[in-house]
Amino acid sequence: MNMDVSLREPVSVLAGGLPFLGHALEFRRDPVSLIQRGRDRFGDIFSFVLFGRRVHVMTGPAGNAAFFKAPDDVLSPREAYQFTVPIFGKGVAYDVAPEIMSAQLELVHPALRDERMQTYAGFIAAEAETYLKRWGESGSIDLLAAMNEITIYAAGRCLIGAEFRSALSKEFVGLYHSLEGGINLVAFFTPHLPLPAMLRRDRARRRVVELISMLAAARRRAAGESDDFLSTLMTARDPGGNPLSDDTITGLLLTLLFAGQHTSAVLATWTGILLLQNPVHIERVLAEQHVVLDQQRLTLATLKQLVYLEACIKEAERLHPPLVMLMRKAVKPFVFEGSTIPAGDLVLVSPAVSHRIANVFAAPASYDPQRFLPGREEDRRTAYGLIGFGGGKHRCIGLAFAYQQVKVIWSVLLRRFELTLADPHPRPDFSTFVIGPRAPCIVHYRRRK
Ligand code: HEM
Repeated sequence: MNMDVSLREPVSVLAGGLPFLGHALEFRRDPVSLIQRGRDRFGDIFSFVLFGRRVHVMTGPAGNAAFFKAPDDVLSPREAYQFTVPIFGKGVAYDVAPEIMSAQLELVHPALRDERMQTYAGFIAAEAETYLKRWGESGSIDLLAAMNEITIYAAGRCLIGAEFRSALSKEFVGLYHSLEGGINLVAFFTPHLPLPAMLRRDRARRRVVELISMLAAARRRAAGESDDFLSTLMTARDPGGNPLSDDTITGLLLTLLFAGQHTSAVLATWTGILLLQNPVHIERVLAEQHVVLDQQRLTLATLKQLVYLEACIKEAERLHPPLVMLMRKAVKPFVFEGSTIPAGDLVLVSPAVSHRIANVFAAPASYDPQRFLPGREEDRRTAYGLIGFGGGKHRCIGLAFAYQQVKVIWSVLLRRFELTLADPHPRPDFSTFVIGPRAPCIVHYRRRK
């Protein structure tokens, strides 16, 4: 669709920007409202200005489809996600050509097959149970902090292995935090600026490589079999038939950890918040739990039978997608609905805004998990309508793993505890890249009899 570029119109620009900063202040405060304002004014495509650079926003199924179907040499994820390179590392993911990144992600697929997922279900349930033992009979917790803790242990166990999980120390949690501190608006435009947060990020990464290399070396000496992503990567071969270097293995593990841990914790948190705001659905989830899990263990097969809980997770993905926008950089001019996006500009789609379009989802502002059940299946009615895990060739490879984690956590939690929200209307925190509720998101709990 990139023909006759010269004949096309430029994209309409949103009013209200400041000199140079453009819409940066509004974007930082609440990017979803900004994107919604643009869609309400101009429809499927508009643009705004961020620090002197044009950003084009495409929303709605047609905009999403065009974005996800565009070849990488037209709309490039690699160019847009350069800020991840100092974290994931050189030679992996967005540092390498798209076909090499795809080949690297292929290496992970064996770790996401059903036989492995079967073992992960048990690990995640054990992590959740162990964590919840600390709660006692009643009390209050910050829900997002709790979900972050459970998912970092679960991800540590499933991705990097039992030794790593049992040694998962305050040191690693601190390092992980320093790496996360390297994801911000400044790093987005200038990932290598020597600011304290970036220097901490770089020191943390060097230490993480050391820690994972020590683990890999110990594994090689022990020469046993393991059931985690680390062992999958240690036995993998590159296209030339050579084993991967420790730096590449660490880079891929960090890519997966970063892509999957906080996003899963945030999805789990919104799933819980929405259920607690709509307790009638908790009754239905619990009824399903009794039917499926009273007489059977929590396994991959029994998890698949939890269709009502799955619909509740999907509704959380729809109303509160952890990634509210996805990005590309136009490396060639791109035409959509008669407007031209010039090469060099940034392009966004927004799951958060696209998920609230009335002709895609009925009564889009209301919480209605049943919209995903057989007979309605609103997510299947419109291609590229539900895009919380992306679409096309870059669609998330960890969707099943993420859904499994959230299902296990809420199965364990809801059967053990009655919960209530301290603040019935938690608001999103837009100060980070993955959009959870503002901290603290306090929940009161009481153990069920
Ligand atoms: C609730 C949890 C998660 C959410 C909301 C999520 C969301 C997404 C989205 C929206 C994309 C597409 C990005 C784009 O097109 O720009 C993506 C890609 C990706 N995700 Fe996830 N993800 C989650 C969990 C995971 C997990 C658990 C893993 C790993 C085990 C993972 C690994 C990846 C990878 C490697 C990609 C890049 C795929 C590619 O470019 O080909 N994600 N994810």
